[in-house]
Amino acid sequence: FHVTWDADAAEKGGYEHFMLKEIHEQPKGLEDTLNKRLKDGNIINLDGINMTKKDIEGFNKVYIVACGTAYHAGLVGKAAIEKMARIPVEVDVASEFRYRDPFVDESTLFIAISQSGETLDTLAALREAKSKGARILSVVNVVGSSVARESDDVFYTWAGPEISVASTKAYTTQLMCMYLLALYMGKEKGTIDGTYYAKVIEELKTIPEKLQHILDKEGDIEKLADIFYKREQVFFIGRGPDSGVAYEGSLKLKEISYINSFAIAAGELKHGTIALIEDDTLVIALATQDALFEKMVSNVEEIKARGARVIAIAKEGNTEIEKKADIVIYIPQCMDELTPLLSVVPLQLFAYFVAKNRGCNIDKPKNLAKSVTVE
Ligand code: G6P
Repeated sequence: FHVTWDADAAEKGGYEHFMLKEIHEQPKGLEDTLNKRLKDGNIINLDGINMTKKDIEGFNKVYIVACGTAYHAGLVGKAAIEKMARIPVEVDVASEFRYRDPFVDESTLFIAISQSGETLDTLAALREAKSKGARILSVVNVVGSSVARESDDVFYTWAGPEISVASTKAYTTQLMCMYLLALYMGKEKGTIDGTYYAKVIEELKTIPEKLQHILDKEGDIEKLADIFYKREQVFFIGRGPDSGVAYEGSLKLKEISYINSFAIAAGELKHGTIALIEDDTLVIALATQDALFEKMVSNVEEIKARGARVIAIAKEGNTEIEKKADIVIYIPQCMDELTPLLSVVPLQLFAYFVAKNRGCNIDKPKNLAKSVTVE
């Protein structure tokens, strides 16, 4: 009797790829990230992070700086902080921020987001902001990494090790940190009331289970991937927080399947990109925002009129979209602000199954590295 032991397969815990394993680890990562910061049920505890009410009231601007997927988490973070804490937020890619002499001073809160904590551009941007006197808070997954060490304070994600180059659970846990931070700042500043605060916390607690619900139906996404995997071009559109998710969905698809994908805020379509929509062009339309739902419905109508094939992502119950889109993927009901935690999941799975059908090297895509420590 002979047992061959494959350490790599063992680490994948029965999954074919790290990426799929990590997609499935998201409910746990989110629960851990949330639980580390909640005490007595619904009080956000920022132990170890030095941010008083006075500090928060003193910030006149927030810069969120990151690269790749972490940058996309920053786009969603911007929407959350502006809505809840009413502070203007700029989001920038680190390689731009570091070279453009940005307006940073002692009243700036600088937030670096990085899974690895070793991305050179992010680290350089952090040093630039620090030299100008900004307060540095980082959202990092790897404990003790360079970004973590050089920051004034660290808000750790509890995603656990992420092996796949394409980031999944790091992204959703980064979002969780951004929501908790926005909520905390809003509460301290008094820009949100207790009822809203309690509602968001209660909803955040339900997210892991709702995300699991999407994962339980991954077979539906796999079937879609079987239909569309030969495409050479895919567009992603959305509005508000959905536009940030559109960028992330597009990045996931292009980085592992090498399909030419493109994301744009849906309202911008008419200023150029709609020229590329023709018969059978595949468009993935995120329509999860109740407040912007009608606007998205009209965008879908516009592109359908030009022949597009539309897959829409909507909340359960918003069935009106079925009349316009060709295919609808539903995510569980949740507050508009928080849908990115859920709506990104079908896009991660779509990218995964498309890449698998195309025979791509999913965990180690060509030309890409997990952590970019060079310029
Ligand atoms: C690389 C990875 C991406 C990641 C980006 C930022 O490009 O391939 O998945 O989003 O770096 O990495 P960081 O570790 O700073 O989050």
